[in-house]
Amino acid sequence: MPPRPLIIDCDPGVDDAIALLLAFASPAEFDLLGITTVAGNVPLALTAANARRICHLAQRTDVPVYAGCPRPLLRSLVTAEDIHGSTGLGEGWLPEPTMPLQPQHAVAFLIEQLTTAAAPITLATLGPLTNLAVALIQCPAIAGGIDQVVMMGGSLGPGNVTPAAEFNLYVDPHAAKVVVEAGLPLTMLGLDVTHQVLTTPDRLAALENLGTPVGKAAAKLLRPYGQSECDSRSDPSRNRHSLAAPPLHDPCVIAYLLRPDLFTGRPMRLAVETEGTLCLGRTVANAYPSPTTPANATVIETADAEGIYALLTERLGKL
Ligand code: BDR
Ligand code: CA
Repeated sequence: MPPRPLIIDCDPGVDDAIALLLAFASPAEFDLLGITTVAGNVPLALTAANARRICHLAQRTDVPVYAGCPRPLLRSLVTAEDIHGSTGLGEGWLPEPTMPLQPQHAVAFLIEQLTTAAAPITLATLGPLTNLAVALIQCPAIAGGIDQVVMMGGSLGPGNVTPAAEFNLYVDPHAAKVVVEAGLPLTMLGLDVTHQVLTTPDRLAALENLGTPVGKAAAKLLRPYGQSECDSRSDPSRNRHSLAAPPLHDPCVIAYLLRPDLFTGRPMRLAVETEGTLCLGRTVANAYPSPTTPANATVIETADAEGIYALLTERLGKL
């Protein structure tokens, strides 16, 4: 099998960074055409810089990075420095990137690639869906160039910003609605599945024990990340959980593309709430699609956490 053409749209973000490393470490499976960044966990200038910081860390400065939309379609930007640190990658110990940011806008890059590609392209979306929504609005024909969209976002159960909504969909619910209703081959990995993939001390130690710059950096990024998800009292302004260890979200998308056998899911009819106040950004999934409401997404429900962490550690060991 030739490597799968892939574009990663992201808002690094600690877990986005780990997802990028996993993709970099899998050149036999992925032909990584570019990384597009969006405002989300931190503002756009930081997500664009952080993606390049990770390219340097992995010595993959050959992968072009494009900055996209600086704010959601309609709402004001909500960020998550409380989870990812003030820079989005902790407190800023990774050096400034020296590789250039591409001059082309991320949306223009997506449209160009998806309308000229020799083979359909897979899109891994790890942040708010603003870039893809704008590309779909500007040029609906890009749908023909998409092999599949695999998205980290949403939740069938509780949210992690509000009781109803997961961060990526809460930040830009209107963009998510555009994407979900575009009729694309869509796979959703929401909190239901990423909360099964926990960064336990032994898994963190395995990364650290790789002893490589990448292994040590991954462990250093992940050690403080998501601790607040383990204590529901940590921040009354957010809907915290009481998980046994911090969850690993975005790398699940890359792991799913590498090893779909580590996951199970079902076709469902997915919708996004954009009107309500209590449920703004909620993913509403009907697990019983009908001829009048056919399935429009595969919703992943279970993950083999041990297998995913073994894959991550094995692959990062190659960088
Ligand atoms: C998602 O929100 C972000 O903070 C993470 O990077 C992940 O994409 C989890 O809700
Ligand atoms: Ca993210």
